[in-house]
Amino acid sequence: MKFFVDTADVADIRSLAEAGLVDGVTTNPSLIAKSGRKMAEVIAEICAITPGPVSAEVTATEYEQMLAEGRHLRQIATNVAVKVPLTEAGLRTCRTLTGEGTLVNVTLCFSAAQALLAAKAGATFISPFVGRLDDIATDGMQLIADIVKIYRNYPHIKTEVLVASIRHPIHLVEAAKLGAGVATLPPAVIRQLLKHPLTDRGLDAFLADWRKTGQSIL
Ligand code: E4P
Repeated sequence: MKFFVDTADVADIRSLAEAGLVDGVTTNPSLIAKSGRKMAEVIAEICAITPGPVSAEVTATEYEQMLAEGRHLRQIATNVAVKVPLTEAGLRTCRTLTGEGTLVNVTLCFSAAQALLAAKAGATFISPFVGRLDDIATDGMQLIADIVKIYRNYPHIKTEVLVASIRHPIHLVEAAKLGAGVATLPPAVIRQLLKHPLTDRGLDAFLADWRKTGQSIL
């Protein structure tokens, strides 16, 4: 399973990349706003840190303008994946850009039917949002199960399921059990994945015993 990091915080991405935990990055207009930086600068910096796909989202809502924004964003670096919303204009833009060899992430997917349409439009990635579905008392993980199953029924579909809006480690584990290819995780969730109280307790005990030996390895 590939791990993307869902943030526009360059320092976070750099430190996670040094630990080998970054296969790609996703951003959205809200994350860019939170960074307080110019979008083009942030995306260029992130693309230099990771060779994996870096999603940069368009903000136009009409096809011509969306396409122009997508073509502009892809010039930032060869690993930019243009992110488009799951609307008719977004799917049309997806079809044109993928036809030109550009990676495209279709975002804001909330149903299996939408995911089928994105695959038809040739999306590189489909981003179903599990946390936002859970927020409205709908089972987000069931959507992942449905999309994975449907895509497997049609082996010609090459679109990768990119599980988005992940809020906690269980979301990731469940998505992995279902066989989703990619998960995009906020840095805080990646750090939560590391933690286990028995790991901390076990390490403390080993180190206490080691100190009693009076030895040092180096
Ligand atoms: C994915 O590409 C989105 O940027 C993100 O996962 C949305 O997450 P949120 O619902 O926590 O804002």
